[in-house]
Amino acid sequence: MMSEDLKRQAAAMALTQVKPGMRLGLGTGSTARHFVDLLGQQVAQGFDCLCVPTSEATAEQARSLNIPLSDLDALDRLDLTIDGADEIDPQLNLIKGGGGALLREKIVAAASDAMIVIADVSKLVETLGRFPLPIEVNRFGLGATHHAVAETIARHGAEGGLKLRETAPGMPLITDGGHLILDAFFGRISQPEALSRDLLDIAGVVQHGLFLKMCKTAYVATPDGVRTLAAD
Ligand code: A5P
Repeated sequence: MMSEDLKRQAAAMALTQVKPGMRLGLGTGSTARHFVDLLGQQVAQGFDCLCVPTSEATAEQARSLNIPLSDLDALDRLDLTIDGADEIDPQLNLIKGGGGALLREKIVAAASDAMIVIADVSKLVETLGRFPLPIEVNRFGLGATHHAVAETIARHGAEGGLKLRETAPGMPLITDGGHLILDAFFGRISQPEALSRDLLDIAGVVQHGLFLKMCKTAYVATPDGVRTLAAD
């Protein structure tokens, strides 16, 4: 079965958890895109919901499907956020931000009563860190921030280096918030909580892609069906 079919199956499972009138956070990425598409089909049939997108790309897709949108100025809490992930460990800790939307994704997930992650089985790992950890940084002082982040990840056992994300050679990716992303190549993150704190202590770091203890349920699609994983 193709990965896109699996992603759609996970998205369809998440849709079963969405009740009329819910305030929803809409994730970003190719799996979340399937969810938004399926939600759009429901909205076209009169389904009532109000949604906060986690990126300009998701906002554009949702608008094209006439999904009612709001923001976290008008709504201070959401019922549920549905989003993808780059890695999922057995405790449902995540690495996110492969699509560059980690800051808004984390703000929206933190403002939600629950977060459901949808993914295909390739995202499951025993230990986080095989996927490079995205670290969103302010543009001001990039050199100094890069230096401080490199020292921190080395102290946390990173096997590889740190790379400024680019859309083309010499063209840094600019996030929706106007920031840059440094991708940190760990191999294995043995102490995610400590790493999270140490990264957030660096003045130029805006946020990072470790989502720890935020997700309680994951729908993970395998060729044999969708598995429901729950955090303790
Ligand atoms: C976007 O910034 C990311 O956090 C995505 O949610 C994550 O990269 C998963 O994307 P895919 O569903 O495309 O794999």
